[in-house]
Amino acid sequence: MQRLLITGGAGFIGANFVRHVLAHTDDHVTVLDKLTYAANLKSLEGLPEDRFNFVHGDICDAGLVDTLVAGADVVVHYAAESHNDNSLHDPRPFLDTNVVGTYTLIEAARRHGTRFHHISTDEVYGELSLDDPERFTEDTPYCPSSPYSSTKAASDLLVRAWVRSFGLRATISNCSNNYGPYQHVEKFIPRQITNVIDGIRPKLYGRGENVRDWIHANDHSSAVLAIIAGGRIGETYLIGADGERSNKDVVELILKQLGQTPDAYDLVVDRAGHDLRYAIDSTKLRDELGWEPLFSNFEAGLEDTIAWYRNNEDWWRPQKAATEARYTEQGQ
Ligand code: NAD
Ligand code: TYD
Repeated sequence: MQRLLITGGAGFIGANFVRHVLAHTDDHVTVLDKLTYAANLKSLEGLPEDRFNFVHGDICDAGLVDTLVAGADVVVHYAAESHNDNSLHDPRPFLDTNVVGTYTLIEAARRHGTRFHHISTDEVYGELSLDDPERFTEDTPYCPSSPYSSTKAASDLLVRAWVRSFGLRATISNCSNNYGPYQHVEKFIPRQITNVIDGIRPKLYGRGENVRDWIHANDHSSAVLAIIAGGRIGETYLIGADGERSNKDVVELILKQLGQTPDAYDLVVDRAGHDLRYAIDSTKLRDELGWEPLFSNFEAGLEDTIAWYRNNEDWWRPQKAATEARYTEQGQ
C-alpha cells in the first residue's frame, strides 16, 4: 500500500487516474485541487472513504504543499492550467500554476525525499509537418509554440534540473491528446459531442486538417502506474497509442455516430500559432515497461465517450452555455 498525493485530481485526466488507482491497486489517494473552472467534484463522487480524501488548495501554497508531501510516498502531479485557447487570452495563470506550482511541489519533494512523477504533454516538442512520417521521441528537442506548452516545457525542465542538481527522485511522462469521460466541454471532442447533442454545428479551426494523436484517458492512467512502479529515476517516457487523426476525421466520426450527415460542421477562425500535427513514438515505454494500450480502436473508444456524455448531461450541462458564449465572442 502506498500513499499517493495526486494534484489536479478533480480535473479530467487526474479524476480518471484517481478512479484507475482505486480500482487497480490498494493504494491510498489524497487529491489536492484548487477547484478552478476546469474542476468538477462530481468526477470524484462515490469513491471509498477509507482510501480517498480530498484537500481543497493551491499547489502554489508552500505551507500546505509541504504538509501534504510530508505525508505521501509518491506525488503524482497533474494540476495545471491546460487549455491552449485560454493561454492565448490570459497567460498569467499558466505561469503561476504550471511553473511556480511545479517549483513549489518539487521543492517539497526534495525536502522530504519523496518520489515524484510529473505529468506533461507532447506539445512541449512543438509541431510536426502533416506530410512526414516522423514522430516525437524522448530525444526530440523542445520547441513549444503556445503559452500553455511553453509553461509545461518550463515545468519539465525544472523537474530535470531538480533531478540532476538535488537528486530529486523523479520521472516525467509526456502524453498525447487524451479523450474519455469527465473532460471539460471547452476541449475539442467533448465540445463537438455536446454541440451536436444541443443541435449546434461542430466548429473546426482553420481547415480542420490539424492532426492529433488520440489516447484514451484509461490508457494514460495505466502507463503512469507502470512508470511509477518500474520507471527509471531521471527518465522521460512518451505515452501514446498510435491514434493519429485529423480534426476533420474526428468531427465526421462524431457526426456519423450521432446520426448526422458528416459535413454538418462549420469552419471557424483558426487558433493563433496552431500546431499542425502531434504524433508519439512510445517504443521506450512499451519495450522497457511492457506497457500496451487497451483502447486501440478509436471508433469504439469514441462511441463509449459519446455514450458517457449522453448519459451524464448533469455533469457537463452547467458549464456548456458559458463555454459556448466565450467561444462565440472569439469567433470560434
Ligand atoms: P484539466 O484542466 O481538466 O484539470 C486540471 C486540474 O488542475 C483541475 O481540477 C484544476 O482545478 C486543477 N488546478 C489548476 N490549477 C491548480 C492549482 N494552482 N492548484 C491545485 N490544483 C489546480 O486538465 P487535464 O486535461 O486533466 O490535464 C491534466 C494534466 O495532464 C496537465 O498537467 C496537462 O498538462 C497534462 N496533459 C493533458 C493532456 C490532455 O489531452 N488533456 C495531454 C497530455 C498531458
Ligand atoms: P484541444 O482539445 O484544445 O487540445 P490541444 O490544443 O491540446 O491539441 O484541441 C484539439 C484540436 O482540435 C486542436 O487542433 C484544436 C482543434 N479544435 C477545433 O478544431 N475546434 C474546437 O472547437 C476546439 C476546442 C479545438
